Amino acid sequence: MELWPAESIWEAVSPLLPDFTVEVLPEIDSTNTELMRRARAGRTEPTLLVAEQQTAGRGRMGRQWESAPGDSLTFSLGLPLQPADWSGLSLAVGLSLAESLHPSIRLKWPNDLWLDERKLGGILVEAASSSGSSFVVVGVGLNIRPRPGDGLRMPPAALLDVWSEATAGAALLRVAAPLVQTLLAFARTGFAPLQARYAARDLLAGREVVTSDGQQGQALGVGPTGALRLQLPGRVLEVVSAEVSVRPVTS
Ligand code: BTN
Repeated sequence: MELWPAESIWEAVSPLLPDFTVEVLPEIDSTNTELMRRARAGRTEPTLLVAEQQTAGRGRMGRQWESAPGDSLTFSLGLPLQPADWSGLSLAVGLSLAESLHPSIRLKWPNDLWLDERKLGGILVEAASSSGSSFVVVGVGLNIRPRPGDGLRMPPAALLDVWSEATAGAALLRVAAPLVQTLLAFARTGFAPLQARYAARDLLAGREVVTSDGQQGQALGVGPTGALRLQLPGRVLEVVSAEVSVRPVTS
């Protein structure tokens, strides 16, 4: 097992989140699935769950998330959270990660991290609720070392491309406390205060993009609730659905 800075992470995060625990597992089906299972069983204490290997990692829109031990960082953060408005939460998570990790990381709506026109990482946000209180699970997969891009249009990027000392543990230590801070602030004030910072890293703004449901137009940036604004012929479309994906049109 790699050495994980679990104690340093705990020291940085526990002042923000009482009852916080860090748990590192050699293998599990999926850290998101596990924290959702626990939440449904009534276990909603704030937890950072890291897996060295996932056997059934999940991505957005029912996709699989593949990773090999040591090559990537795979974790989920679960905590009780009651935001007044959930819209833009995954954008806030992406922004927090990007700002903690490197100035060149860009954000591809709604929640991918990109580096040099290639995907570096992804985010899967899920929520469980029972008797009026909600529990959010923020799952993050980040490529640390280059890996073959079998079957992918573009081989993925890796954090080592821009941070020569990067390891999964060092990356987790950098992102954990700022991510918790971002989530707690988001619950109070939503996405709007983050809109300008998101814009500074927006990969799609100004580009011609096509959505998975076939709409094509120029991306105009994201609005105060995190909706992607698309200029279509004669009108502006606000894309909000988490079930829509977007990609730049390349000529
Ligand atoms: C995506 O790009 O579609 C999102 C990928 C999210 C992957 C992470 S890895 C840790 C956590 N557990 C999962 O099963 N998925 C998320």
